Amino acid sequence: MVAVTVYLAATVVGLTFAYFKYIHRRRRPNEPEIVPGNLIWGNGADFAEHAVNFLHRCQKKFGDIFTIRLLNQYLTMVMDPHSYENLAREKAFDFDPIQRQVNHNVFNFELVDARKMLSEAGKKVNGRFLTTGMKNFSDNLKNAFQKVTNIDVNGNIYKTEGDNWGQDGLRDLTSKTLFSALFYTIFGQGEANEEFEPQVFYKNFDNFHKYFNYLWLGLPVKMFPKALTALNVLSKQPSSEEMLKRPGVSEYIKFSTEFMKANNQTEQDIVGHNLVFLHVNYNTFRLSFWLLYHILEDKKTFVALQQEVNDLIESQSAPGDDNGSPLGITIEEFDKLPILDSIIKETLRVTSGVFMVRYISKDTEFEMDNGQKVSVREGDRVAMYPPAIHKDPEIFEDPEVFKHDRFVDAKFYKNGKELKNPLVAFGSLCPGKKYSLLQTKWFLVNLVNSFDIALLEGQSTQCDVNYYGHEILPPTHDVQVQYRLKEKFRELEFIARRQC
Ligand code: HEM
Repeated sequence: MVAVTVYLAATVVGLTFAYFKYIHRRRRPNEPEIVPGNLIWGNGADFAEHAVNFLHRCQKKFGDIFTIRLLNQYLTMVMDPHSYENLAREKAFDFDPIQRQVNHNVFNFELVDARKMLSEAGKKVNGRFLTTGMKNFSDNLKNAFQKVTNIDVNGNIYKTEGDNWGQDGLRDLTSKTLFSALFYTIFGQGEANEEFEPQVFYKNFDNFHKYFNYLWLGLPVKMFPKALTALNVLSKQPSSEEMLKRPGVSEYIKFSTEFMKANNQTEQDIVGHNLVFLHVNYNTFRLSFWLLYHILEDKKTFVALQQEVNDLIESQSAPGDDNGSPLGITIEEFDKLPILDSIIKETLRVTSGVFMVRYISKDTEFEMDNGQKVSVREGDRVAMYPPAIHKDPEIFEDPEVFKHDRFVDAKFYKNGKELKNPLVAFGSLCPGKKYSLLQTKWFLVNLVNSFDIALLEGQSTQCDVNYYGHEILPPTHDVQVQYRLKEKFRELEFIARRQC
């Protein structure tokens, strides 16, 4: 009995010590107000329930800057969108520990010389690599489109055309087309029967992502058996030597694999890094699902986009050249379609769930755009929450409504002043922004050009707000669509430049 009492007393003393050392804090002069929360998880439950509503409530009460706590992590939230540029520029606000946290806690590896690697690897999806990457992507997309338009009925293969409609979940269809093309563009092609293939990764990534927020905060993967099972499948990859030899493997993977090998990183580290890279690309897949969903859900959006694509094809076709050969289209031509551009921005506005977060590397006096100076503390994190900006009714009228032309020639204001960056779904650092947008644009233009596609009667879905914290939110559930090849269409071909 005495032993039990001593044990309990020691536990209570230990927990009290840990609480005061790691969690409890007294606000220092000029620091932002601290939002009251639960003794153990702080504001975690409110944030998990509906992050945007919670932050808007806090903003009303505490103003444009305040501090919340998620488990043991203090985050100072900057809610003023005009202060975005100041936050992105501040030298004491560091992204590296955040990127390390994701790598270590979620994907179980550490990157040696991370800053050099990320800035060099980032170049492999920009500049001249954009065109070669897009060419591979467009070839892989063409193959994927061909596969889904050949349906197997009792061993007989039919084209989904005329009265032969194909039917699938929209998300499943997007995975078989866009995600499949992304996967092969990143990792190149392998044996036809191998397990390292897009559908296996799509299904297991979906299972794994359910636990992303818990893992990110540092809870061990062993606590979540389903996440562990998925991670084990996702970790079955070709060796680095085999990966480098795969036909069509991306410049990004070639560079990152060679860089990591030169730094004596293990095979397991390389596997972890491949997964992080696929994880960031997964956002392009999620975004594409939502793009399709919105154009199918709203007839006006579909008609406007179809018209724009028809106009593009007409403007690029020379009279009498419709001899069945594909029509070449360059990046410049499909990148500057105003309706398509606006649909993508509007989709990003309503579906992004990301944090733009930085580690505070030393005590800092942060100056907001209005000149207010606030002290923030070394070891804390400072963050902006783009979805809270994207759903602000003062900036975006009727923020819950999807308006396909909202961003056409538009300016947005807060407190009477024009916003330099009203849409911050990519944060300030994402090197894949341009590439990802081009891929979604090419996907959508081609799909609208060559497919008849419609939601089945009564099908609808919405963003799953339990995933707030992820870059692009997934839907609560999939919706069924029917699709077939159009009777008549001019095939499009991605070309680097137009011959004079
Ligand atoms: C819809 C698609 C995407 C969205 C919404 C997105 C969003 C983001 C966001 C919000 C960040 C954090 C930036 C910050 O805090 O300033 C980020 C970082 C990053 N993204 Fe993306 N991303 C997307 C696609 C991609 C793609 C396709 C790639 C690669 C080709 C990529 C590569 C990266 C990398 C490497 C980082 C870390 C940058 C660093 O450590 O400096 N992303 N992304």
